[in-house]
Amino acid sequence: MTLDELKATALTCQGCSLSERRMNVVFGEGNPVSPLVLIGEGPGETEDKMGRPFVGRAGQLLDKAIVDAGLQRSQLYITNTVKCRAADWSTGKPVNRPPADDEVLACRKWLEPQIAILKPKVILCIGGPSAKNLIKKNFQITKERGMYFPCEFARTAIATLHPSYILRQMNISGDGGYSLLVADIQRAWEAAQKLATKEGSGKDSGEAG
Ligand code: URA
Repeated sequence: MTLDELKATALTCQGCSLSERRMNVVFGEGNPVSPLVLIGEGPGETEDKMGRPFVGRAGQLLDKAIVDAGLQRSQLYITNTVKCRAADWSTGKPVNRPPADDEVLACRKWLEPQIAILKPKVILCIGGPSAKNLIKKNFQITKERGMYFPCEFARTAIATLHPSYILRQMNISGDGGYSLLVADIQRAWEAAQKLATKEGSGKDSGEAG
């Protein structure tokens, strides 16, 4: 199956209750042959409206960090562990909430084949929830960010601070961890480039990323 075929099927998903209120399935976008794939937690309000990952306030900070790391967003592939917006509708007005375990599990149906097609050398998990999903359940983002971990979906995985967390921290003190986000993107890209040079892309051989 190609990435486009997988996307076309994902756009019709009704695998969990998030499908009932979503505006768009946010499948992911970017360079499908990039050695580096960024994976966040799930779409927020702006992403749900636009059908694109990381395009709200957090996404704008991520874009700036990508540029400050010496890259362009178009060099990377960006997606989320969950493809539909998770929100609490109990007051009538949607308030973003973390995706529940069963929603994360249901969305593995799309994430796993998506990564299998992309075959990235390195996965950069954006934020703790993504790292808990893809690296290990007990991942500690402040202690373990920026470090390489084994990952069943790529040659290695690294996690970094979520730009939403950084935006909240910036209100409290200093750069809120922004320089760490930039450094982690740089580190992940360097590792991805090295592995791609050493091993080839593996895109055509059927070899696991
Ligand atoms: N936060 C995420 O984790 N992903 C997005 O796409 C937007 C915000």
